[in-house]
Amino acid sequence: MAKIIDGKQISKEVRAEIAAECAALKEKGIVPGLAVIIVGTDPASQVYVRNKKKACEEVGFHSEVYELPEETTEAELLALVERLNGDSAIHGILVQLPLPKHLDDKIIIDHIDPEKDVDAFHPVNVGKIMIGDYDFLPCTPAGVMVLLEKSGVDVSGKECVVVGRSNIVGKPQAMLLLHANGTVTVCHSRTKNLAEVTRRADILVAAVGKADFITGDMVKEGAVVIDVGMNRRADGKLTGDVDFATVEPKVSLITPVPGGVGPMTITMLLRNTLTSAKRHAGVL
Ligand code: GUN
Repeated sequence: MAKIIDGKQISKEVRAEIAAECAALKEKGIVPGLAVIIVGTDPASQVYVRNKKKACEEVGFHSEVYELPEETTEAELLALVERLNGDSAIHGILVQLPLPKHLDDKIIIDHIDPEKDVDAFHPVNVGKIMIGDYDFLPCTPAGVMVLLEKSGVDVSGKECVVVGRSNIVGKPQAMLLLHANGTVTVCHSRTKNLAEVTRRADILVAAVGKADFITGDMVKEGAVVIDVGMNRRADGKLTGDVDFATVEPKVSLITPVPGGVGPMTITMLLRNTLTSAKRHAGVL
């Protein structure tokens, strides 16, 4: 029987630390500020943005949400990003993805001031992650690292297997595990004998985007399994990339979905915004 990693509880603890730091900064007249931009009416994105605003309020941050219509032009969106780049009350700018098809994510992200890029999506920040000189940590992979640390998992020297190579999760996750001295393998849709590779993992991170993709026969006895997946079943229920029923009995530690990695992502966004506010105020 595996021990369940309680992402909700760990997230609560980290958010309490952030709230305490925010209160101390307020004494110095500094209020961390996050601006979130959403274009269009994608229901999942609307929920994420609402949760980000709520999380900001709970820790005492200033937050601004810009809900722009679907037909917003690139020029209009860039003008807003430029304005927020120059707004001293805003320390973090997040453009919710995916954007409508007529807008190019890359062009928009490239215009965010790297010092306010709390998603760590700007090429400057991606490069910094590569060399281990972080300003901002990529939110989901950073959340995974905190879950491992708070669960007493020492990554150093371990066989770490990341399944998935996205720019948002898989690639930066591999880098963070490598910086923590893990021996890291990244698998993807063209990997041959995937189960053979995943069975080597002491720490397995699943970031594939396919429900129940990792099954019990693909994991080693006693492994630590982190499920980054957020898939909707036909009945609307949220489910991960790991087939919990067959994997859980074999492993030592596992994150559930929901309640594992998910709550940590916004927590890391808050932490990046706090870092940015401190850096802008010259107190870091
Ligand atoms: N859409 C889904 N996840 C994310 C995220 O972490 N950041 C942004 N900007 N958009 C997202």
